[in-house]
Amino acid sequence: FDLSNHHTFGFEQIARSIVTVASAEQLKQLIVSRQLHNPIILGEGSNAIFLEDYDGDVLINRIMGRKLEDNADGVRLTLGAGENWDSAVAWLSQQGIGGLENLGLIPGCVGAAPVQNIGAYGVELSQVLESLTFIDPNSGETHSLSKAECQLGYRDSVFKHQLKDKAWITELVLWLPKPWQPKLSYGPLKSLEDESDLSPLQVYREVCQIRQQKLPDPKVLGNAGSFFKNPVVSVELYDHLRSLDSNLVGYPQHQGGIKLAAGYLIDKLGLKGHLQGKVGVHQHQALVLVNHGGGKPQDLVALANHIQQRVFEVYQVKLQPEVRIFGSNGEVEISRYG
Ligand code: FAD
Ligand code: EPU
Repeated sequence: FDLSNHHTFGFEQIARSIVTVASAEQLKQLIVSRQLHNPIILGEGSNAIFLEDYDGDVLINRIMGRKLEDNADGVRLTLGAGENWDSAVAWLSQQGIGGLENLGLIPGCVGAAPVQNIGAYGVELSQVLESLTFIDPNSGETHSLSKAECQLGYRDSVFKHQLKDKAWITELVLWLPKPWQPKLSYGPLKSLEDESDLSPLQVYREVCQIRQQKLPDPKVLGNAGSFFKNPVVSVELYDHLRSLDSNLVGYPQHQGGIKLAAGYLIDKLGLKGHLQGKVGVHQHQALVLVNHGGGKPQDLVALANHIQQRVFEVYQVKLQPEVRIFGSNGEVEISRYG
């Protein structure tokens, strides 16, 4: 079963089986039948890279459903985990319902959004999530979690730790408070600050336009978005690096430390556009690694390791992958691979 259409990096791998799941009931039945071997669940594979053939069953979540509850103080939105995220955001923005527009055009499904707490343009899922439902892949039982229980952080959640491989998310409930307050603090959106009667749809369209300028469309050029996380460093290291480069980009964090723009560091090292075989660093966004077509997993591993080494040598910063990387039996660490 060909995996190449189920992950946007486009490496040509196969899986033992690929099963599309259309309802929570079907998912439960698959679990209790005990016929699944080493299963993993995917939405659209826009944050997953397969380095090898997968020796297991891949479930493709297509559990659909959209329900709106309009209250005086906000809108409650219930979404099936297999819904396409951007379609849901566009649908809301078109109805004049605000709250998700900054997260427009993020590829993938609703169910993956809490896994890394998707974020862009000054907004994270954590600002709108109320609760979610998941099925335990071992027992088939259904559980609910409040937002607090999801332990959402920067590109982080309980689903990467205590509940790693222990929760298949089937539904999200989002709360979008009224009145809508546009969030325009992130650099490129500041131009909208002077607009009168700004609508969620205008912000959505602006976000889409900005994203289309720098991020490659996975349908045209294989990629999985940012390959590495933006690293959070100590104030001391930041001050030291800034004394060497006054243009260094850094964002102070509430929890302490400064978040650096990894794309800036990679760019500064002259690696933008760098090629390793048919895999490379994107020409317009150095944090995005791309597959120019026919790329080989070993080239991606070599490229990622090279970037990590160079950034560490020059900046003393360890870059951690943001994408999820799978070997034949499950997730692998790219630094120990190859
Ligand atoms: P997949 O890649 O299918 O899965 C990702 C991980 O989540 C896997 O480990 C998978 O096992 C797990 N998972 C998937 N579904 C479920 C489920 N139902 N239950 C439990 N676990 C599940 N991300 C951002 O945060 N911000 C951005 O701005 C952004 N921009 C991007 C731009 C591009 C061009 C691309 C290609 C990616 C970008 N991403 C961004 C990354 C990606 O869009 C998100 O991580 C998205 O949430 C992934 O959705 P998916 O359905 O494709 O997940
Ligand atoms: N920069 C460069 N050169 C580059 C890339 C970036 O100098 O090649 C600089 C930019 O000029 C800017 C700064 O680095 O000053 C930050 O760049 P950008 O705004 O493009 O965002 P990013 O930090 O590279 C993060 C997220 C993206 C998200 C954007 C917008 C991570 C790992 N990535 O990227 O998310 O869309 O901010 O909010 O946090 C993803 O997770 O896959 C993803 C694309």
